[in-house]
Amino acid sequence: MSELTQERLAAVLGTRPFQYHASLGSSNDIAQGWLREGAEAGAVVIADEQRTGRGRLGRTWYTPPDEALALSLIVRPEPRGLSRISILAALAVAEMCEEIGIDSVRIKWPNDVQIHGRKICGVLPEAVWEGDRLLGVVLGIGVNVRVQFHDAELASRATNLEAAAGRTLDRADLIARLLGRIDVWLPQLMSLDLLNAWRSRLGMLGQMVEVERVRGIAESVDENGALLMRLPDGSLHRALAGDLWLLDDGH
Ligand code: BTN
Repeated sequence: MSELTQERLAAVLGTRPFQYHASLGSSNDIAQGWLREGAEAGAVVIADEQRTGRGRLGRTWYTPPDEALALSLIVRPEPRGLSRISILAALAVAEMCEEIGIDSVRIKWPNDVQIHGRKICGVLPEAVWEGDRLLGVVLGIGVNVRVQFHDAELASRATNLEAAAGRTLDRADLIARLLGRIDVWLPQLMSLDLLNAWRSRLGMLGQMVEVERVRGIAESVDENGALLMRLPDGSLHRALAGDLWLLDDGH
């Protein structure tokens, strides 16, 4: 039987409002509807299986039953905190990994969490607006707990938490830990501490990278999490979003 059940989640989540779905399309869609209906900050939609999970940049996200975490947390930050939400999520996932004894966790800019260079987590924050008023943000997080990748190309880029931990993990316990770390950081969303904790786990500073067809040395990040790249002509380029490729890593 799956370790992820309504009863188990109720036990570990305490008073936090939550919806559990054995199967749904995308937890971000359900959470967006719930947010518009007035769900309080901290409410969370959790799915065992997603049939049409969404990834960044229009990609699909694979969430087979029994094998992953797929959750969408409702947060209500002030608008200036928007760019910090995905930073916070990647940091919280990295810390959850560290809490259960996995070391060598790094964050690949902007918000992929990797173990030994292979991705275990994706973050998809989606802001919900009513006209020009920010109603809130649905913070979608997907973690590969025991998802196996049979496609050789994917397997070289992705791994799962159980492989890294070398033992069976309890997904309800992982969710409680992850939300616990998010709760710690949310009140410090605009702090330097948050930025520094994220920055200290970034895996590619000082290396030659490519983002959106621009190549340069990943020099640093700014207070909004944008990547500052030193280009061959000496100028500084600010990348706000996109896929990052490490060029001295065989890509
Ligand atoms: C990425 O492409 O790296 C981001 C993946 C985000 C996946 C999560 S799983 C929970 C939530 N619901 C979705 O449809 N997507 C996000």
